[in-house]
Amino acid sequence: MVFLISNELAEGEQNTLNVMVIGGGGREHALALHLNKSRHVGRILCVPGNAGTAQIGENFDLPVSDFASLARLAHEHDVDLTVVGPEAPLCDGIVDHFEAEGLRIFGPSKAAARIEGDKAYAKQLMKSAHIPAPEGRSFDHFEEARTFIASREAGVVIKASGLAAGKGVFVCSDPADALVALEKIMVAREFGEAGDSVVVEELVKGQELSVLALVDDRTIYVLEPAQDHKQFGDGDVGPNTGGMGAYSPAPIATPELLDTIQREVFVPIVDALRREGAPYRGVLYAGLMLTPGGPKVLEFNCRFGDPETQVVLPRLESDLYEMLSAVVDGKLIDLDLRWTPKTAVGVVMAAGGYPGVYEKGKTIEGLSDLQGQEDVFVYQAGTKQIEHVTVTNGGRVLCVTGIGDDVASAQRRAYEAVDTIKFDSAYCRRDIGNKAIARPV
Ligand code: GLY
Repeated sequence: MVFLISNELAEGEQNTLNVMVIGGGGREHALALHLNKSRHVGRILCVPGNAGTAQIGENFDLPVSDFASLARLAHEHDVDLTVVGPEAPLCDGIVDHFEAEGLRIFGPSKAAARIEGDKAYAKQLMKSAHIPAPEGRSFDHFEEARTFIASREAGVVIKASGLAAGKGVFVCSDPADALVALEKIMVAREFGEAGDSVVVEELVKGQELSVLALVDDRTIYVLEPAQDHKQFGDGDVGPNTGGMGAYSPAPIATPELLDTIQREVFVPIVDALRREGAPYRGVLYAGLMLTPGGPKVLEFNCRFGDPETQVVLPRLESDLYEMLSAVVDGKLIDLDLRWTPKTAVGVVMAAGGYPGVYEKGKTIEGLSDLQGQEDVFVYQAGTKQIEHVTVTNGGRVLCVTGIGDDVASAQRRAYEAVDTIKFDSAYCRRDIGNKAIARPV
């Protein structure tokens, strides 16, 4: 479908379209919530969704891997646009399936999503396109990987090459830890087939930065940057998680740095994918380490970040449906997005035990007190509604985002809101935003 950006819609044309969001985390709640504000969107369907998405749309309990049933649902409900949150359905080809059925869908093809689903492939593509990245090699055999690791004196990062739900990356400052990680991946096969091959990389130090860009066949549009906090504990210690909090904008991401990232990272990777016969269309996420020698790409993801989305979207003043449609329709070149200069700080509240074993089913209190506040968004992730009670249903339970004129006020607002929400053994980091406060613009 074609629409004209900035054109007035006649009364009967407003809020008429049905949109489907695939996934059930905080990122998907954020996508659904901000799509729900669009002047085009009438109804939101979420698969499977969570207790948060159920408040703004209708949840459907289908497996996100069952593309035939998802496409049938889209046809039955006259869905105009489907937006895919998680990487697994993208890497398995949901976009190819939907497009073959004539359905509009936001995301890359299976061939292009390989940039996330196959880290050995991504590494080789980055090398061939001269993209700055940590030195590294891929291995299909345990013994070869072990010999290589044993020959190194410095720390390494070991990554399962396939998808491992964010758990297949091990940062090892000691070679002995690296061998333990390698055994988990290739011998114990904790991540199944995802561990058929591994990437072993030099360990680079610096601050991490997430830069996401919208990409269609002709245009790259870099979105507002964010800084994630992957480690579990304050001061960036402890095991890696899916992300414990984020903020946007990131003062460290100067316009000059973003220009460099566009020129040295996005342009060459998008060109390389096109040369591979896998042109990219969707949102492309570059996970970077800002080293003294310049930005280096740690990973590419084929989707929106979580929790980055929960701090980037609340800053978007433009219509999210129009933004996503511009990519799907190949009209990114016409897009002119408006962002608030305010800062968003998002704090993830997790279940006790996460990222290891945790319990579910704990009653969450205090959510209704925060409804309707302009400077707080509570994005639900691992939550479920049982009768009229919202209970925990996952490791990362909520992302509480505060908005403020600067990082300090956004941080204060986020933690005030966090402190009004209660569930048994809730955990959050207490330092989200501190890095940005330590380095003012
Ligand atoms: N925040 C990390 C990710 O989305 O992969």
